[in-house]
Amino acid sequence: MIPASSKEESDEIKRQGGNCYGAGQGIGRAIALKMASEGAKICVADLNPETAKKVAEEIKGMGGKAIAVQVDITSLDQVKKTVEKAIAELGCVDILVNNVGWDKMELFIQSEPATWDKVININFKGPVNFFKAVLPHMIERKYGKIVSIAPTPDGWDRAARRFTRERKGASFPSRKPLRGKWPVTGST
Ligand SMILES: NC(=O)c1ccc[n+]([C@@H]2O[C@H](COP(=O)([O-])OP(=O)(O)OC[C@H]3O[C@@H](n4cnc5c(N)ncnc54)[C@H](O)[C@@H]3O)[C@@H](O)[C@H]2O)c1
Repeated sequence: MIPASSKEESDEIKRQGGNCYGAGQGIGRAIALKMASEGAKICVADLNPETAKKVAEEIKGMGGKAIAVQVDITSLDQVKKTVEKAIAELGCVDILVNNVGWDKMELFIQSEPATWDKVININFKGPVNFFKAVLPHMIERKYGKIVSIAPTPDGWDRAARRFTRERKGASFPSRKPLRGKWPVTGST
């Protein structure tokens, strides 16, 4: 469960439009519902259009504003269209939640290059696609918050854990320079 926000945070969220992807189920759904309950307008983006629509309907049922968009985050073209749609229909994307993560539970020694490619495309390239699509908008508005959910490798063998750490190492620095190079007021 996401901790209750402070009054200050809550007031801030009310002013904002959020784009939460991978929000059709699980943690992403919980984040989307929590943000909506605090007043954010939500773009529920997910590979699965049915679950995305269901979550958007739940938000509307709570009296909130939401749209559902089908997106494969490994496609920059689809990600750009998602951000454009969110801006057109919700007014802005001030909070981006990178929630999608994918892993295959198996011994590293049994894993195949196709699995590595899928892990890298979803867990690393997906967030980078969203950075590329959303940053010009945040820079123009001089405001933006990006939250990225990281995977934990419980249940994997040692080699797989190392691979996951390397992958996290690959994705975390990709966000750090964003703040330094393009300072966006209030960016997190
Ligand atoms: N569940 C846990 O115990 C746990 C623990 C630590 C970290 N995490 C991390 O939290 C995040 C969410 O976990 P979860 O268990 O809720 O995940 P989940 O598998 O339940 O949900 C992931 C969502 O992402 C969507 N998705 C998958 N591939 C996609 C793609 N290419 N494009 C767009 N959407 C896509 C799925 O349709 C699904 O709705 C992940 O990044 C995960 O690594 C989860």
